[in-house]
Amino acid sequence: MTNMIPRVRKAIFPVGGLGTRFLPATKAMPKEMLPVVDKPLIQYAVEEAQAAGIEEFIFVTGRGKTAIEDHFDRSYELERTLAERGKQAELDAVNRWLPPPGSTAYTRQQEPLGLGHAVWCARDLVGNEPFAVLLADDLILAPKPCLAQMIEAYPEVRGNLIACMDVPKEHARRYGIVDPGRDDGKLIQVRGLVEKPPGDTAPSSIAVIGRYVLEPSVFEHLERGAKGAGGEIQLTDALAAQIGRSPFHGYRFEGKRFDCGDKVGFFEAQIAFALARDDIGAAVRSVLKNYI
Ligand code: UTP
Repeated sequence: MTNMIPRVRKAIFPVGGLGTRFLPATKAMPKEMLPVVDKPLIQYAVEEAQAAGIEEFIFVTGRGKTAIEDHFDRSYELERTLAERGKQAELDAVNRWLPPPGSTAYTRQQEPLGLGHAVWCARDLVGNEPFAVLLADDLILAPKPCLAQMIEAYPEVRGNLIACMDVPKEHARRYGIVDPGRDDGKLIQVRGLVEKPPGDTAPSSIAVIGRYVLEPSVFEHLERGAKGAGGEIQLTDALAAQIGRSPFHGYRFEGKRFDCGDKVGFFEAQIAFALARDDIGAAVRSVLKNYI
């Protein structure tokens, strides 16, 4: 009997956070709707999932996040007006990338108790199969989208697979950090995980980034609702509890990640994504010369 490798069909997008670092911009608008150049962060994440073959898109939202649902819906008045005016490029920009009807689901995290809690809120929508998690505020510029790189590597390792990148040692306290075993440069065996290690206690400078392929058994640990660093229900703690139960690897992806939950990271993403664009890259480069 062949041991079938389950396909990763579903992705969770936790978008229930308050985005306090971006106030006042996020007072009436979800952080995940902030645009980089001309596209909201959450659309980059959904397009990355589509490029990796994801078929079901599960959003864990909260109060004040209805703009996200509207963004992934048809907009009849706008589409009609654009069609009447013969604006085909603009029409493509509003509906070409929409997930097919019935492929999106929304559930509410009633209180923002942490990323682990947000993921747990999607447990019944995921069911008993491996799934991806994408954090929209980790934006990645890559020749091949990060999740597609991971899903290509997944059949080789199975179990849990988390995106990783090397960070300066002094930044380790800002991230979930891997205690690494065997490391072949791409795949890293995960022996331990620690969320925001204080001082210089970090076991390495390999940081966890917001792309995950996970086994449904992670929900069992999240069910307990145990609070971790910062008093939040941490996904990292639930993942740490999986180590030794099934294969667990880090994946050093190709590409550059921008922390769009942080003002400076968000600003850098604007520059990098604008410079990478065929339509405005040259103009942006020439404008930037005025400031440096
Ligand atoms: P962050 O740690 O950046 O938190 O969440 P935040 O609340 O969005 O932002 P700040 O720190 O107050 O500025 C990382 C991701 O996890 C989601 C967020 O929406 C974001 O996409 N998240 C976080 C939830 O869905 N629920 C939570 O309870 C916490």
